[in-house]
Amino acid sequence: MNIVLMGLPGAGKGTQADKIIEKYDIPHISTGDMFRAAMKNGTELGLEAKSYIDKGALVPDEVTIGIVRERLAEPDCNQGFLLDGFPRTIEQAEALDQILADLGRKVEDVINIKVDQDELIKRLTGRRICKVCGSSYHLVFNPPKVEGVCDKDGGELYQRADDNLETVSNRLEVNIKQSQPLLDFYNKKQILTDIDGQKDINDVFADVDALLKSSR
Ligand code: AP5
Ligand code: ZN
Repeated sequence: MNIVLMGLPGAGKGTQADKIIEKYDIPHISTGDMFRAAMKNGTELGLEAKSYIDKGALVPDEVTIGIVRERLAEPDCNQGFLLDGFPRTIEQAEALDQILADLGRKVEDVINIKVDQDELIKRLTGRRICKVCGSSYHLVFNPPKVEGVCDKDGGELYQRADDNLETVSNRLEVNIKQSQPLLDFYNKKQILTDIDGQKDINDVFADVDALLKSSR
């Protein structure tokens, strides 16, 4: 299963990715998570990424493509992978095809989670994340059992630095501009499926799961 998960910021990529990897046992490769881990560890990559992420801009292609190339070469990706938030530009999509071709593989399914812009703003500004396991919650749509505490491990919940209203607006603008050519790219290859992301989290997963089962 070589899957690409697309969707504007807040569409529910991370939320659905957690469910997909639990069921299908494939590695979750989120470029956003990789950048945030590097930022937390204060590495050179983290410092560079931070200057873009804090503004809601995209990290340059050569940097992003480099980390994905390294990650896909790791042995746990041999049986498949779930890419989340990559590719985000045509350059990245073309590089991904080349990286996979070198490994004798290709992208099999591209899932595009569609959600209205007003809803995305509500989701992002209300999102809270576990400091320990990274699980996403929402103050209203998906609250933890105890306020401010992760259900799974008791970790403290925090708000991502790029989830303030100003940065969210920039992220949406940048991503809306970039996404259409990418959707056209995968549509032409006939591997793109739109999923209605406005439904309840479990109902969205039921649709994603049905799609994955039918394409195996
Ligand atoms: P990244 O981490 O990929 O962020 P993003 O694309 O902006 O997406 P999010 O993680 O914000 O949202 P999501 O779709 O995962 O939604 P979630 O499931 O959490 O990237 C961050 C930054 O890194 C970028 O801005 C860029 O700078 C850089 N970057 C990353 N990749 C890059 C690349 N390839 N090239 C260049 N730069 C790159 O859900 C959101 C909220 O909604 C949660 O609170 C959740 O509980 C709730 N929710 C989810 N589903 C539902 C539902 N069905 N109903 C109600 N609520 C829901
Ligand atoms: Zn947790």
